[in-house]
Amino acid sequence: MSANQPKFSIRPRSRLKADVYCLAFGPDDPDAKSLSRALPRALGAAVNELVGDPLLKRRVTKDLEGAAGAGQRLVVTRLDKDDWDSIAAWLKRSVEFANRRGAKRLALILPDSEATRSPGTIPRVARIVGVGAYKFSEYLPKGSGTSKKAPGSRSPRLEDILIVPPAGTEKSARVEVAVANGVATGIKLCRDLGNTPGNTATPAWMASQARRLAKRHDLKVTVLGPVELKRKGMGGILAVGQGSANTPRLARLRYGSGGPLVALVGKGVTFDTGGISIKPSSGMEEMKYDKCGACTVLGVVEAVASLGLPVRLDAYVPLAENMPSREAYRPGDIVTCYNGKTVEIINTDAEGRMILADALSWAAEAEPDHIVEMSTLTGAVVVALGVHGAGCFTPDDQLAASLLEAADRQAEKLWRLPIWPEHLADMRGNHAELRNSGPRWGGASSAAAFLSQFVREHSSWAHLDIAATAYSTKPVSAGQTGATGYGVATVVDWLRSLT
Ligand code: BES
Ligand code: MN
Ligand code: ZN
Repeated sequence: MSANQPKFSIRPRSRLKADVYCLAFGPDDPDAKSLSRALPRALGAAVNELVGDPLLKRRVTKDLEGAAGAGQRLVVTRLDKDDWDSIAAWLKRSVEFANRRGAKRLALILPDSEATRSPGTIPRVARIVGVGAYKFSEYLPKGSGTSKKAPGSRSPRLEDILIVPPAGTEKSARVEVAVANGVATGIKLCRDLGNTPGNTATPAWMASQARRLAKRHDLKVTVLGPVELKRKGMGGILAVGQGSANTPRLARLRYGSGGPLVALVGKGVTFDTGGISIKPSSGMEEMKYDKCGACTVLGVVEAVASLGLPVRLDAYVPLAENMPSREAYRPGDIVTCYNGKTVEIINTDAEGRMILADALSWAAEAEPDHIVEMSTLTGAVVVALGVHGAGCFTPDDQLAASLLEAADRQAEKLWRLPIWPEHLADMRGNHAELRNSGPRWGGASSAAAFLSQFVREHSSWAHLDIAATAYSTKPVSAGQTGATGYGVATVVDWLRSLT
């Protein structure tokens, strides 16, 4: 896979060496010139000069000269507000600038403000910056990814990102940066898998990636193929997968030996044509991202295992390709899921919930303390929240609160939406207990109500609908659209909050 993954580290001001320095000072900074005091000499002088520039409204850049600074560049930005939206915008611009210059080392000198002194600053900065420092170059000509390229290219070559936190916070920042690097590994895995197209990323391939992940971290792994799925009565996964020559799988990874047991479940539809209820062709290529829930789960496992967090994880990834064919499942079919519930198929494009039904009811058997499931489940959540945030559905108020807090700390937007009894009533079947598709309105909530039928009553479970956030159709990094890694940071943060 593409090799570019920059490493974050904490630097005090006095020990800086980078190709590009990005420095911001906030509105409350009484004397911006004091910023330069502890900087290396060449840099400090340049900062003084720029900060003293009457033209400095928002941002000025300067090529550094002299022995210490030759060939390096300094960008000084004045932020008008001390809030995370402004800081995030500055961070995004900074990493883009470094990408354009083909820089290997970027130093980010954070403004000293209330926002940057709040706990969780470093993981948040690393997440925002990390998103932009990525390119999926697996299928591009060699040399367009991480190797040397003409200036002006947008290919990230960043290897080191040095973060200079507010003075006096370096110690806690060092602890946090180690976590951030672990999370970054997980986000990268999630994005690499998510961006891999359906002709490579078949269910079998995804399962082999899960196996590789297990091997890297010495985890227990089980992969069920069509024969085992049949034997176990996993009719949902089999129904969705039966139309494709790329047969379905269900992978389970187990991590840890102590601490709370959390089951993670992620939708892994390696390509969603809609099946017999086929989707319109325009934009259908986006449906290679319909496995992003599974990718997020694998990313979380990667991060948690590399950090050695004191939790136990059971990670379930149901994998199937939803195709129309003479073997495909059809509207009107009645399918029996792993927990014995029957489902009448109304729309073969409501396939995610069918594979999740089996995976959730298997996950519930171990009676985990919590189940967190992530899926690109409905277009309806995109209608509800736009592309800016994900929906959180859970009957458990405490779980909702703790997930929303974790998302907030990571600057990932997550919003709670309801599951009302009426939503479940919408999903009652005619010739079966349930149907897989209800009325048009409230489709994100009725999908969640459907899922609620496959976990135990009164258990602590949440469904995160990441259809809008798992990938972006606007460029997110190096001019590319694609998988964002949304959710990995939030779930890892939430898992850390449990211990
Ligand atoms: N994978 C889609 C949901 C989706 C839509 C993900 C847009 C990302 C972007 C899902 O399988 C689907 O097709 N859902 C249907 C459900 C309907 C048939 C009940 C939808 O949202 O239209
Ligand atoms: Mn679908
Ligand atoms: Zn789907």
